Amino acid sequence: MRTKFIAGNWKMNTNKASAIELAKGVVKGTPSSGVDVGIAPPFVYLDAVNQAIAGSNVLLGAQDCCAEKNGAFTGACSLEMLKDLGVKFCLTGHSERRHFFMEPSDLVAKKAAAVYASGLMLIHCVGEKIEERDAGKTFAVVQAQLGELNPAATQDAQRLVIAYEPVWAIGTGRNATDAQAQEVHAFIRDFLGKRWNKNFADQVRIQYGGSMKPENAKGLLTQSDVDGGLIGGASLKTDSFLAIVNAAK
Ligand code: PGA
Repeated sequence: MRTKFIAGNWKMNTNKASAIELAKGVVKGTPSSGVDVGIAPPFVYLDAVNQAIAGSNVLLGAQDCCAEKNGAFTGACSLEMLKDLGVKFCLTGHSERRHFFMEPSDLVAKKAAAVYASGLMLIHCVGEKIEERDAGKTFAVVQAQLGELNPAATQDAQRLVIAYEPVWAIGTGRNATDAQAQEVHAFIRDFLGKRWNKNFADQVRIQYGGSMKPENAKGLLTQSDVDGGLIGGASLKTDSFLAIVNAAK
């Protein structure tokens, strides 16, 4: 049985006070068992949010990282620094990093390897653009992005999470249908089974992301290969985020 995992990606939102308030609200409404819950605030509020969630079962996450250990990398943040602030999971390959910040696939792969080597949980994001879907390239794009992970170096299935986030659904209000999500999630699990093995693939959690909200969460989360959600907009309000958490439970 895969425990559902709901993670909030706050992106570049909140300020220090609202981040602390949101984090405390999430702690208050998170069930003690039955679902894993995480929140990924902006880097600069990680410390404050870590203090706000201290002693709870809410996991602290980072939205990005630098693959280098330390040194002359202006503006960057290493995994050791993130761990120092209580971070338990880190995203890689989010479409906004790939497309707005033009992170190439080899850099995404390097970051994913670094997160995994650091001992943190990795949420590796994959997903096609609308023109790629329309051209029938969804599976090819997703497969190439999954290829950024090295099976030989990524052996603990509990520390690997894949987030399927169709780019056309992120922040648009237009989510994938239950069937569209399930189709790609099943493809992802099948591919993981071939690259690792079936036992490994059966344990990996595959989150859906892209305009997940209280109204559509139940339909998406009851698909057999949808093991949680990576939530953007709806994670910025305690009520809507917790409604999704409760739908997952
Ligand atoms: P959204 O973002 O829920 O606002 O669509 C999801 C994400 O980008 O992780």
